[in-house]
Amino acid sequence: MGRIIQLGGVPVARPAEWEKRSFLPYYEPPRRGNDLKALIKDSLKLERASIDFFQKLALKTRDSDLITYRMAMDVMAEEARDEQRISALVE
Ligand SMILES: [Fe+2]
Repeated sequence: MGRIIQLGGVPVARPAEWEKRSFLPYYEPPRRGNDLKALIKDSLKLERASIDFFQKLALKTRDSDLITYRMAMDVMAEEARDEQRISALVE
C-alpha cells in the first residue's frame, strides 16, 4: 500500500472494490470444509496466479521503476516458495 501512495495512486480501501480490481476472480471455498484435496488444489491455483501477476508486474517495471520491480521480484519469490510447499503436500 505504501508503494501505491509513493507512486501517487490511491489504495483501494473498500472491500467491495477488492474483487472488482483483483487479478483473480473470487473462488468459493469447497462446499465440504474437510475436502483437503480441493483446498490444496485451490491454494495452488491462487499461488500460481500470484506468481503470474508478480512476474508480469516485474516485467512491466523492470526498465522504468526499479523499486517496484524489486518488490515484485521479492513477492514472486515468496509466492514461489509457498507454491512449492503446497505442491509437496500432493506429491
Ligand atoms: Fe502465497
